[in-house]
Amino acid sequence: MSDIIPVRFAGTGSYLPEEVLGNDYFEKILDTSDEWIATRTGIRERRRASKDENTSILSANAGRAAIEDAGLTPEDIDVIILATATPDHPFPSTAAFVQSHLGCVNAAAFDVGAACSGFLHACWIAAGQLQAGMATNVLVIGAETLSRFLDYKERGVCILMGDGAGAVVMTKAEREGQGILHATLGCDGTKAKHIWIPAGGAALPSSETTVAERMHYMQMKGRDVFKFAVVKMTSLIDEAMEKTGLSPDDLKMVIPHQSNLRIIEAARERLGLPAEKIAVNIEKYGNTSAASVPITFDEARRAGKLASGDKIMLLAIGAGLTWGSMVFEL
Ligand code: UT7
Repeated sequence: MSDIIPVRFAGTGSYLPEEVLGNDYFEKILDTSDEWIATRTGIRERRRASKDENTSILSANAGRAAIEDAGLTPEDIDVIILATATPDHPFPSTAAFVQSHLGCVNAAAFDVGAACSGFLHACWIAAGQLQAGMATNVLVIGAETLSRFLDYKERGVCILMGDGAGAVVMTKAEREGQGILHATLGCDGTKAKHIWIPAGGAALPSSETTVAERMHYMQMKGRDVFKFAVVKMTSLIDEAMEKTGLSPDDLKMVIPHQSNLRIIEAARERLGLPAEKIAVNIEKYGNTSAASVPITFDEARRAGKLASGDKIMLLAIGAGLTWGSMVFEL
């Protein structure tokens, strides 16, 4: 087994907007059905941010809960890392607004863009900072307001996504054996246009034409991403088991990115795990991109399903295409 990175998750939090959009909402506006959405994706409903909410607000709500859970104050946080693909503005970073909302006056703050696997990328950076002694308490957030970037005429995409935020406070391990046992990240940039928003950036600034052609909305080659995700999940799981020397039975829980129940099921089958060992909430929230892993982690912890000493695996694949996995002892 490779060396443990001695860090811990000292607190977790999450925030979901109040408005619930059931599959019946899409039945009214699109040629789709509850039956199609539920059987092809596992999704029954998702949340949508109110007009007064945006990514920094969702982030601050989740972040506040995580700081409280860790028994800290906003002043104790020295870095905020926010993983998001749906920033409030092109710049400054959304993390800067979060720093102000939370009153984390001593914190550096920046965003990480790795879409659905962004939270794992952000935890990886935080772990490096903590291990190097460059930080003491890092607030890591995954948050999205995807509803602002969805084409509600595109039935293959808009039915999938939801809004929400999850957060953790990472700090140094407090006992031997606690920490990250394995972490891997990756990217295949040749597939950068598999999931993307074509317009609104430096390559193609917004114009009347881009708006008329709906290029400011998220586009996805769903079937290609699906196939890629199933194969990549399998290789991430195999690699994590090999590198840690653990067997799936040693894991208390696997927390995968909630992109499609069929992808999650493929991972569960690969591991040969019983249903209760793989965390699933996609039926309630849909795919919340960078927010899905930390929301699911927080729910499992608060439900009393996880305890200190448990070994947990996080897994995610997303736009880029990027991916990540992490095995840690809580
Ligand atoms: O989080 C980042 C990573 N993202 C993912 O992992 C998403 C991966 N992809 C997927 O989850 C699936 O590919 C989708 C759920 C997006 C689509 O499911 P699919 O089983 O791959 O369907 P498909 O795209 O191959 O489409 C099958 C049919 C098509 O009709 P035809 O061409 O066979 O007549 C689609 O037009 O289903 C149609 N379709 C729909 N029908 C009813 C697509 N969306 C819908 C819909 N309602 N909402």
